[in-house]
Amino acid sequence: MVTFQLSPEQEALRNLAHEFSETEIKPIAPKHDETEEPAWEVIRKAHELGLMNVHVPPEYGGQGLGNLEGCLIEEELAWGCLGISGSISANNLALEPILLAGTDEQKRKFLPWFCAEPRLAAFALTEATGGSDVAAMYTRARRVGDEYVITGTKTFITNGGVADLYVVFATLDRSLAHKGICAFIVPGDTPGVRAGKKERKMGDRASHVGEVIFEEAVVPAANRLGAEGQGFKLAMQTLDRTRPGIGAAAVGVARRAMEEALAYARERHAFGRPIAEFQMIQAMLADMAMNIDAARLLVWRAAWLQDQGQPGTAEGAMAKCFASDVAMRVTTDAVQILGGNGYMRDYPVEKLMRDAKITQIYEGTNQIQRLVIARQLLKSRS
Ligand code: CAA
Repeated sequence: MVTFQLSPEQEALRNLAHEFSETEIKPIAPKHDETEEPAWEVIRKAHELGLMNVHVPPEYGGQGLGNLEGCLIEEELAWGCLGISGSISANNLALEPILLAGTDEQKRKFLPWFCAEPRLAAFALTEATGGSDVAAMYTRARRVGDEYVITGTKTFITNGGVADLYVVFATLDRSLAHKGICAFIVPGDTPGVRAGKKERKMGDRASHVGEVIFEEAVVPAANRLGAEGQGFKLAMQTLDRTRPGIGAAAVGVARRAMEEALAYARERHAFGRPIAEFQMIQAMLADMAMNIDAARLLVWRAAWLQDQGQPGTAEGAMAKCFASDVAMRVTTDAVQILGGNGYMRDYPVEKLMRDAKITQIYEGTNQIQRLVIARQLLKSRS
């Protein structure tokens, strides 16, 4: 049965996240956009309210919520500020490989850390030589007895350098391409792990993104996630599950831009009337509303499918790709509706436009999403 109705619990969660975003995130977003400092106090409060790490099952200290619930939260938090919501939701990305492939012992050891305290985690996959071509990574892992020694540099890592735990992807042998890749749980205080350059970004500036350097960092073999050579697939399965969340965040950014444009169009007068009365403005607003709704439906479908136990590979990619393209278009149009004011820092829409851009790039560029969708189409028999 198809239903577009959220349950009372989901509605309550969405309202909680919205209220939090309205009162705690939105007011401080411009400051963090300016300073590029993470909003530690908001992260602490989000944790206290139960808006972080929501997918961790109760037996490991979490709430065991589904992907749909995670997406409801992400839309609302990103409505307040994409960067602040990104610091919080990067934990979902980093903990997902542990949820998917961790042993009970690994889950018992590492997941309660995050449920008990407002700690940050990071997913260390991307490297400077290419974010899209994961199989070509250079970070290497060498097995020595009951341990692995990891060496390499990961780039553009959200929470990279400030995280208490990294899920790190490294190759045992580059000549094996994707079949040589392993995933490891690496605590942030492991000797040989250090923060590299902090990035200065166009948008998404309230999230800490930086390099993480591994210099002969030693982890016990017990920290390997899954079998040797399974790391690439684990990264792909993780991204399948987190891409709807990026779509949800993009919907949040787009929705906020539409609301700002609508409010401005009602107030701003030109030629003797509010500009909202002009059909060219109305057409832009109508396109915004239509596309935002379509994007949210794709996000909900992908998250729902995954909550039913399906991989949702193509659906997750569609949700991320469509929603982020919508966010870029809607925020650009919002700047246009606000005209000269829209281009100025005194109004919030230029930030939304800068923020929207990253949603077309991270967790796989939209070119990669289209490739993923096409490969799934070509694999299917219909
Ligand atoms: N689920 C399970 N298995 C999968 C899979 C999936 N979704 N996708 C691929 N595989 C399997 C394939 O079936 C294949 O298996 P076999 O060896 O058994 O045949 C294997 O993995 C290799 O697959 P491909 O041949 O498709 O691999 P490829 O090298 O051509 O790459 C790709 C595919 C889709 C381009 C992939 O590299 C990709 O997704 N790249 C983008 C990476 C990305 O999204 N990075 C974002 C980083 S995270 C980030 O941005 C976080 C942040 O800080 C905000």
